[in-house]
Amino acid sequence: MTILDIIIKKRDGYELSKEEIDFFIKGLVNGEIPDYQVSALLMAIYFNGMTDDEITNLTISMADSGEKVDLSDIEGIKADKHSTGGVGDTTTLIAAPIAASCGAIIAKMSGRGLSFSGGTLDKLESLPGVSISKSIDELKNIVRSNGVCVVGQTKNLVPADKLLYSLRDVTGTVDSIPLIASSVMSKKLASGADVIVIDVKVGNGAFMSDVSKAEKLAQTMVSIGRNNGKKVVAVLSDMNSPLGKNIGNALEVKEALDVLSGKVDVSDRLVYVSLVIAGYIIFLSGNAKCFDEAFDMAKNALFSGKALEKFENMLMYLGADKKDIDNIDNFIKTENTLEIKAEKTGYVNAIYAKNIGIASLKLGAGREKKDDNIDHAVGIVLNCRVGDKVNKGDTLAFINYNNKENIRIAEELVKTAMIIEDDRAEDIPLIYKIIGG
Ligand code: URA
Ligand code: CA
Repeated sequence: MTILDIIIKKRDGYELSKEEIDFFIKGLVNGEIPDYQVSALLMAIYFNGMTDDEITNLTISMADSGEKVDLSDIEGIKADKHSTGGVGDTTTLIAAPIAASCGAIIAKMSGRGLSFSGGTLDKLESLPGVSISKSIDELKNIVRSNGVCVVGQTKNLVPADKLLYSLRDVTGTVDSIPLIASSVMSKKLASGADVIVIDVKVGNGAFMSDVSKAEKLAQTMVSIGRNNGKKVVAVLSDMNSPLGKNIGNALEVKEALDVLSGKVDVSDRLVYVSLVIAGYIIFLSGNAKCFDEAFDMAKNALFSGKALEKFENMLMYLGADKKDIDNIDNFIKTENTLEIKAEKTGYVNAIYAKNIGIASLKLGAGREKKDDNIDHAVGIVLNCRVGDKVNKGDTLAFINYNNKENIRIAEELVKTAMIIEDDRAEDIPLIYKIIGG
């Protein structure tokens, strides 16, 4: 068997065997297969796809490429949650504490921001003292006492995904169903949870902009999980406009704290999606008889302040100071703020999530190169939502920035993200579909 034979076989549209997939993943992780051959195979997979058997074999081979987390010594059913990545998507920081305050047990390893989509770890690090590098034993101890903790992936969790992801990022092979499904599910299988709720984002600010492709991706991930003995539900949620009103790191922690303080409306996009995700975690981990009951429990936990307590405790276990949490406003202060005003009267018919995400990245909230430092304070605060009526001169958004270098680019991106028209456009669904619910 040679990697060249495998590339040619996939290039010509044939199905790879389990042995061939294992050979590829082993050679990748050992460093025996050079990047150019890995890239060629990724492109062949991108164009020719994979059968369900190939995707399952690839996922298992990737999951087995490094250390796996064994959570079996924590009593009860353990749950995990994953988002395929979005803009202003603070769902994890809201849904995980809500579910934990209703009895679910959540031990989650999160990722960093990727391109224009934010990452939970970068958000958590907005607070001084927070360290997301915890050993598996430390993670388990926090989960035993607090019911929930989110940390960084251990170094050796699915090394195959780290290698593949960095090549996909630079070879135009990110948005492929077999490659996304195996990337997400290998990490979930290696992380040891029994219940997995996946938030598949759909829209211009997501890797999948088309509902039917996103549904295929969701079905693929649900069946991989189930074939491996996990309880899995995928929620297809909208990412045409940002989920929350705050986009940026400390800004999103602030929004999570605000939501968990109960100063919110259940119909708000971010709140509603978070409650649905929390509801499925609660239900699948056996803490409610049905989803509707779980959803009500989630709502009560949000308004009772119990979920806020879980979140604050988690931040403190990670190293944050209570007085900094109470003064989160200190960490969103920037030298400058630019207001974006409506140039005409009408209805806000779109706020393109991707533009807002790129604008936030340009301000320094994300990384353009792998080793860039991020500015946790900067970002964008939306002052309107899709469907709102605005008058000429109303403030649509605030851009909070420190570095002047890219401010004109960010301003243009935010301005062109906001579409104001005379007639109100039809509403876009917030949740398109639940797969496996
Ligand atoms: N998130 C992942 O973890 N992997 C992908 O391929 C895409 C989104
Ligand atoms: Ca995310």
